[in-house]
Amino acid sequence: MDQNELKRQVAKAALSFIDDDCILGVGTGSTVNCFIDALAQSGIRIEAAVSSSDESTRRLQDIGITVVDLNTAGPLDLYIDGADEFDANRYLIKGGGGALTREKIIAEAARRFVCIVDQSKKVKVLGKFPLPVEVIPMARGLVARKLVALGGQPELRENFTTDNGNLILDVHNLDLVDAAGMERKINNIPGVVCCGIFALRKADTVLVSSESGIQRF
Ligand code: A5P
Repeated sequence: MDQNELKRQVAKAALSFIDDDCILGVGTGSTVNCFIDALAQSGIRIEAAVSSSDESTRRLQDIGITVVDLNTAGPLDLYIDGADEFDANRYLIKGGGGALTREKIIAEAARRFVCIVDQSKKVKVLGKFPLPVEVIPMARGLVARKLVALGGQPELRENFTTDNGNLILDVHNLDLVDAAGMERKINNIPGVVCCGIFALRKADTVLVSSESGIQRF
């Protein structure tokens, strides 16, 4: 089974978490794109969605779903999103698509965060995937030096601006054995908007697709 089929399967499995007429938080990325396609075909009626990116907003509107601002929606019952890595604690690395800040905001606003991934995203310790850090442009150099001091090797994501008008540093080789501790340290650097470690607000459920079906953690 190819990876796209695994993404489609886990996306479909996430539909069972949705209550009719809810306001749903929707993430970003290729797995979420499969989820939006599955939602379109499911016949499930939701009141509206809160979206984590301009790309997901466009896709949701294309299938006739109203997208509302988080301030209008208030607390959400459910957020569905993918990840670049997950571990046995349900800690995640996110931000491969650059939407990490809005993703973290929506995850925090949601009572339940269901993460949808295929088995290729599973790791023992986070950090093989370079950690995305969203940075205010004027602080790029300062933040990069601080990340080096924390043991990482930051690399500016070329020709990329986030939906919030900021830059992304992709940080290689950080030691993320203490993922929550590193999340706090990076959050504390002036100029950092958000880092892609989701440990302080981890996933509540991870749905994982593999050749043998869907597993739930
Ligand atoms: C978007 O910024 C990311 O956090 C995505 O959730 C993550 O990169 C997973 O994307 P894929 O589903 O495309 O692998």
